[in-house]
Amino acid sequence: MAHPTGYTRAQIALHWITVVLVALQFILHDAMSEAWDAVEDGLEVVFSPLVAQHVFMGALIAIVTFIRLGLRLTHGAPPPPEREHPALKILAHAAHWAFYGLLIALPVSGAVAWFNGIEPAAEAHEVLKTLLLALIVLHVAAALVHQFIFKTNLMARMKRPVG
Ligand code: HEM
Ligand code: HEM
Repeated sequence: MAHPTGYTRAQIALHWITVVLVALQFILHDAMSEAWDAVEDGLEVVFSPLVAQHVFMGALIAIVTFIRLGLRLTHGAPPPPEREHPALKILAHAAHWAFYGLLIALPVSGAVAWFNGIEPAAEAHEVLKTLLLALIVLHVAAALVHQFIFKTNLMARMKRPVG
């Protein structure tokens, strides 16, 4: 895997676009949860603007994630800070790949549940969203610890592009 000195402008832009889209999915999920309850109760479901928002924004997250994966595999990512403990390097690496996996598995499970009415897919979607939330908390905590305690200036990587 390539080890450039930093992320490109496109990688950085797509990282922050993902942050906004994922935040909106969490903030605005109520309408989708209610629509799903109606499906389970056998009631008629209206494809309201907020339900459409959840479906289309979820699909957009999947598309953006595939583009990011392409960039990750072609351009690569900068190596972890040198002084970082080897166990933390492995953890960060695993967390980053877990993000890609979750950001694809979530829209897929959601779509399987919504378009086919498959209950276990909805249950998987709920578990996956909890895992994503936990990973985000860990990731943000790690970024803050790096920035303010380890003082590695890690945030600069997601602000200043190279190449
Ligand atoms: C929805 C929320 C977020 C997701 C899904 C996410 C996802 C990711 C992923 C997948 C990477 C690895 C990129 C790669 O190397 O391939 C990454 C890196 C990074 N993220 Fe996030 N992120 C999120 C929120 C944040 C927030 C809120 C911050 C700042 C507080 C942040 C700061 C960083 C930094 C500094 C890196 C570079 C780390 C490094 O190169 O070692 N992220 N993020
Ligand atoms: C990364 C993208 C996505 C995120 C972060 C996300 C997040 C969420 C969240 C937070 C909930 C509320 C769960 C709860 O009530 O506790 C939810 C529910 C739901 N979402 Fe998504 N979603 C995504 C993509 C999609 C897509 C693309 C579809 C459909 C095409 C979808 C269909 C559903 C359905 C049917 C529910 C209700 C069933 C359930 O609670 O599991 N989601 N989603």
